[in-house]
Amino acid sequence: MRFSNKFVIITGAAGGIGSAITRRFLSEGAKVCAVDNRTEALNQLVLDLDSPFGFAVAYGGRPSYSAVSPDALLAIKADVSSESSCKNLSAQVQQTWGAVDILVNNAGKFPVTPFEEISYAEWREVCAINLDGPFLVTLAILPLIKVSKTGRIINISSGSIFAGTPDQCHYVTAKAGVIGFTRSLANALGQHNITVNAITPGITDTPPIIALFPAAVLDKQAEARAIEPI
Ligand SMILES: NC(=O)c1ccc[n+]([C@@H]2O[C@H](COP(=O)([O-])OP(=O)(O)OC[C@H]3O[C@@H](n4cnc5c(N)ncnc54)[C@H](O)[C@@H]3O)[C@@H](O)[C@H]2O)c1
Repeated sequence: MRFSNKFVIITGAAGGIGSAITRRFLSEGAKVCAVDNRTEALNQLVLDLDSPFGFAVAYGGRPSYSAVSPDALLAIKADVSSESSCKNLSAQVQQTWGAVDILVNNAGKFPVTPFEEISYAEWREVCAINLDGPFLVTLAILPLIKVSKTGRIINISSGSIFAGTPDQCHYVTAKAGVIGFTRSLANALGQHNITVNAITPGITDTPPIIALFPAAVLDKQAEARAIEPI
């Protein structure tokens, strides 16, 4: 149990990657605050994890099963692109836990829109969720992370920043911004013994990706990977 007694906040926890991160941390003994702005999906996550038979965690090709203890999971609805919502989230976590060890800024949205069809409203929305989101959540939660003395902040960027995916100019721009945010924040918070890192996942078959891309495209991506898909 590598994360026993650790308090972890995961944004976008009701989505594909976020729910996998949530399951993994719970299976390693952490207490997890699952944050999402979709009420139904968040409720479904709680139902799935509350199963008396435990929940499946698959990694390294070996599925295993864990049972979640009653106080291990806290689910809070919040909008990462809203300053007031992030402040409310922080107040609720402060009241329940009083400290946070690990923050995973994972919430994101990645529409596919040709550049000339991106309206300013869509540009702002994508940047608000993917770039403003990590800033607003981090700013609100930081006082609780400072309590922990060994804080960890993990920002989920995207491998699309290397490819420069053409029909996601807003998303690629925002996720590249997450790298700058991560590097600058790491330098700012190192003095508090808080590390800040970013991950740039390649294409991962979560619900929106399955809806956006034909199976043949996903198969080709999987073939290009260095290891067998699990
Ligand atoms: N799936 C991929 O191929 C891939 C590749 C690289 C990076 N990523 C990144 O990984 C993260 C997770 O992606 P995913 O594929 O699991 O997508 P997903 O849509 O399954 O999960 C994203 C979650 O974020 C939540 N969310 C969106 N806007 C929010 C907001 N304003 N406030 C709170 N929650 C909000 C959604 O409700 C959803 O549950 C995203 O940041 C995405 O950009 C995904």
